[in-house]
Amino acid sequence: MKKVNNIAVLTSGGDAPGMNAAVRAVVRTGIYHDLNVYGVMYGYRGLLTDDIFPMESKSVANIIQRGGTILKTARCMEFYEYEGRKKAYENLKNRNIDGLVVVGGDGSFNGAMKLSQEFDIPCIGLPGTIDKDIAGTDFTIGFDTAVNTAVEAIDKIRDTADAHDRLFIIEVMGRDAGYLALHSGIATGAENILVPEHTTSVEDIINDLQANERRKKMVNLIVVAEGHEAGGANGLAKRVREQCPQLDTKVCILGHIQRGGNPTTMDRILASRMGYAAVDALLEGIHNVMIGIVNDKVAYTPLDKAVKAKQEIDPEWFKIVKILAS
Ligand code: F6P
Repeated sequence: MKKVNNIAVLTSGGDAPGMNAAVRAVVRTGIYHDLNVYGVMYGYRGLLTDDIFPMESKSVANIIQRGGTILKTARCMEFYEYEGRKKAYENLKNRNIDGLVVVGGDGSFNGAMKLSQEFDIPCIGLPGTIDKDIAGTDFTIGFDTAVNTAVEAIDKIRDTADAHDRLFIIEVMGRDAGYLALHSGIATGAENILVPEHTTSVEDIINDLQANERRKKMVNLIVVAEGHEAGGANGLAKRVREQCPQLDTKVCILGHIQRGGNPTTMDRILASRMGYAAVDALLEGIHNVMIGIVNDKVAYTPLDKAVKAKQEIDPEWFKIVKILAS
């Protein structure tokens, strides 16, 4: 087993509430085990530009409750190239850093996997994304907070939709995954939910709206994932307005508010547990894996599987949505 002495932590890709809690856990667990812990600013970009600094226990004081990431984040094109990763490795080697924890999404794991394969730097991934689009874990850091943010917003939209007898088409984030839409839609009693993983045609939606109108149900909320083939909320609204001009149709795109805010208790606990497990894995010689929590137990997924795999949505959920919204 290779002894680890110096580790670094970075946050990469889109920020997610709870990233700070994960960084805190990595730093404090590392210090507990007498490791030197370094923070890397701006994700992989900071590895390339040598924006690396030693962290102490107090560097992560008062951050568990804060959204965003104190280490900042970025998407770094140079790291996609071998030469970029070589530069990153050299900066790590100059400080004798022999373990790297990357908090991010599947794109970030791809970079970590390449770095570990090409330069033998042990890497551990922590799934930090509001999209929950990574296999090998029941939840990702940030998802729960983002769902709760969306639910709070959609509840408010329902108040005004109800007052005016309106149809609201609400777009949530998720890139090409539909979990944010599914969870926020179910929790707000949406009449329809459109996600990329399930085929709901625009014709079906229009049929449902016309049927609802016939039975005088005028308040309808449709939650649509940004990655749905209808073209998000605006794409769907255009079709609905063409075919149902009598309906008072409004669009609301929730956007980046879903990425901010104080992490929920669930995200803080998930991130703390995962950060602790990341350092534990490095010390145990378990390398190049993503830490997940599956059925309340720590699970390791090789980084290459965490990269490729996508979670699936059980079609039963769509039956439930129909029944409950009828
Ligand atoms: O991956 C997280 C995410 O918020 C997605 O849901 C969304 O599609 C994307 O990032 C937005 O990225 P950006 O902040 O770069 O516009």
